[in-house]
Amino acid sequence: MAQPSNRVFSGIQPTGNLHLGNYLGAIKKFVAMQHSHECIYCVVDLHAITQPFSVWGGPEKLADHTREVTAAYLASGIDPEKNIIFNQSQVVEHAELAWLFNCVARMGWLSRMTQFKEKAGKDREKASVGLFAYPTLMAADILLYRATHVPVGDDQKQHLELTRDVAAKFNNDFAEAIAQKGHGEAYFPMTEPIIEGPATRVMSLRDGSKKMSKSDPSDLSRISLTDDADAIAKKIRKAKTDPAPLPETLDGLKERPEADNLVGIYAALAECSKEDVIADYGGKEFSEFKPALAELAVEKLSAISDEMRRLSDDPASVDAVLHKGAERARAIASQTMSEVKDIIGFLR
Ligand code: AMP
Ligand code: TRP
Repeated sequence: MAQPSNRVFSGIQPTGNLHLGNYLGAIKKFVAMQHSHECIYCVVDLHAITQPFSVWGGPEKLADHTREVTAAYLASGIDPEKNIIFNQSQVVEHAELAWLFNCVARMGWLSRMTQFKEKAGKDREKASVGLFAYPTLMAADILLYRATHVPVGDDQKQHLELTRDVAAKFNNDFAEAIAQKGHGEAYFPMTEPIIEGPATRVMSLRDGSKKMSKSDPSDLSRISLTDDADAIAKKIRKAKTDPAPLPETLDGLKERPEADNLVGIYAALAECSKEDVIADYGGKEFSEFKPALAELAVEKLSAISDEMRRLSDDPASVDAVLHKGAERARAIASQTMSEVKDIIGFLR
C-alpha cells in the first residue's frame, strides 16, 4: 500500500474526567483537521490500563469511560462517517506492532521518558511493564496507519520524538528488505507533531504551575466537559489569580502563570491570539475578565456537554460507532502488519 500523504492519527485515554485541557489541546484540533486530512481518532484503552485501577476505574468503569471519550469526539463535531473513530483494543494489530517496536526501541530511550518518570513516581519497581513500554504502543498506534500528522497537547512532544526514532531505526535496520519488497527508501513516515495555538498546555485553575489533569483531587482545578453552565461559571470565578489587573502587553504575562493561563484559555475558545485578548482586556480587572471568560466558555462548551449527556443515555449508538470504526481501522492495520511481517522476514 502506498504511503498516505496527509493522514492524521491521535488518541485519548479513557481514564474519565475529560477536561478543558483535553478539549483545547487535542479534541478541538481533531475537529478542525477533519476538513483537510484523512483522520483516525482512537480511544486508547490499552494505554489506560498501564496504570493502577484507581486511575482508570477498573473493569466496571472501562467501557463507560471509553464511551465518554467517544461521546466527546462526536459531541465536539467529529464526523464518524468521514473519519474513523474506534477503540484501540478492538484492533489487535496495535498490540502486535507494539511488540515488534519493543524489539526496535532501546531501554535507554524509554528510560528517558519524563511521562514514565512522573507516572511511575518514586517506586519504579512497582510500575507496570506496560507503563514503561507505553511509548512503543503509542508509536505503533501512529505508524500502524503510517500517519503523517499527530495533533496533541504539549505533554506528548517527547513521545512523538520517540515515535520518529522508532520509525527511523526500523527504516534503517530493515532498509535492504524495505527496498527489496518495493517500498522504496523508507517504510514508515517521519510523523509531524501538531502542537500549536494558545492552549497546548492548559494549567490547573487552582495552581498555575500544574497542568490541568484528570487525576487532580480538586474538582475545582479543571473544567470538565460534562460540567453544566453553573459549574463552569463557578470554577472560573474561583480560579486562582493574582491581585493585579491584566497587563497591557503580552510580555506582562510572563511571571503571571494564572493570568497567562486564563488569557490562553480565552484565546483558544475565541479562536484568536493572546495578543488579541490583551488588546481587549489589558488593564482590566479580573472581576471584569472572569465573567467574560465564563460566558464565552459556557457558550462554547454547553452544546458539547448537552450532547455528551444525550449520548450517555444512548450507549448502543456510541458502541455502534466504535464497532464500525474498528472494522475500517482493521482494514488498514492488517495490511500494514502483513507488509511489516514480510519486511522482518517471518515465515507466513
Ligand atoms: P490523555 O488524557 O493523557 O490521554 O490526553 C489526551 C490529549 O489531551 C493529549 O493530546 C494530551 O496532550 C492532551 N492534554 C491533556 N492534558 C492537557 C492540558 N492540560 N493541556 C493541553 N492539552 C492536554
Ligand atoms: N499518550 C497520549 C496521551 O496520554 C495518548 C495516545 C496514545 C496518543 N496513543 C496515541 C496520542 C497516538 C496521539 C497518537 O495523551
